[in-house]
Amino acid sequence: MWSLHEKSEKNSGLLAIFVLIVVSIGAIVEIIPLFYLENTVEKVEGVRPYTPLELAGRNIYLREGCYLCHSQMIRPFRDEVERYGHYSIAAESMYDHPFQWGSKRTGPDLARVGGRYSNDWHIAHMRNPRSVVPESVMPAYPFLEEKFLNYDDIDKHMVALRRVGVPYTDEMIAAAKEDVAMQVNPDAEKIEEFLNRYPKAVVANFDKKDEITELDALLAYLQMLGTLVDFSNYEQPER
Ligand code: HEC
Repeated sequence: MWSLHEKSEKNSGLLAIFVLIVVSIGAIVEIIPLFYLENTVEKVEGVRPYTPLELAGRNIYLREGCYLCHSQMIRPFRDEVERYGHYSIAAESMYDHPFQWGSKRTGPDLARVGGRYSNDWHIAHMRNPRSVVPESVMPAYPFLEEKFLNYDDIDKHMVALRRVGVPYTDEMIAAAKEDVAMQVNPDAEKIEEFLNRYPKAVVANFDKKDEITELDALLAYLQMLGTLVDFSNYEQPER
């Protein structure tokens, strides 16, 4: 036994092999169980995949780099919970690829901004943030309401997300383009079917224009952030 110890200490090649064996046992114990778990995130009632319009809006959020100034994760600290609402839970971002937790807050956290302001407020704010918050340093995005939304490939985005685990059904993907138009038209005939597919989706002509614009998509996304889970069932953190 001791001679083996001595040999391995004096022979770096042998020592390396032993170290490798020991480390791989540790790795196997940690990693293998993950392959047998269906999900590492606990499911929470209310969390659903994004509607096609929300998804298009989220893509604009990424394109414009909104995450460079806005986080989407409320930490479980008293100051954050009092300002933004219940701290974020893992399930709320389980269908986010990539997640938008962010690491920089030049502007406020947006994880629960849904429903906090009217669409009119958002329209004015996106046109020129200074018109509603005089000291704001946020850039203006007036072109969003002028650009028609290109959603020709939105179903393909959903197929890609399904590959990484977002539970979009064939029915949702087939109806994707129709659903984009449906969400900006509260009078649409089959609106009930849409709301069955995507409970709690906000249906509205967000930008008040006839055409479907990029602003419609972005507002559909912003207005649902943090609204899916009913936190009245959850214990409030201690204050
Ligand atoms: C240069 C940093 C910066 C960028 C980039 C930026 N914002 Fe902001 N944002 C701010 C700041 C600062 C505020 C706070 C002042 C205000 O309301 O304008 C803010 C406020 C907001 C608010 C109001 C939040 C609240 O709770 O009051 C929303 C919504 C918002 N931004 C959305 C966006 C979106 C969407 C984008 C991308 C299209 C974006 N922001 C890009 C800095 C930024």
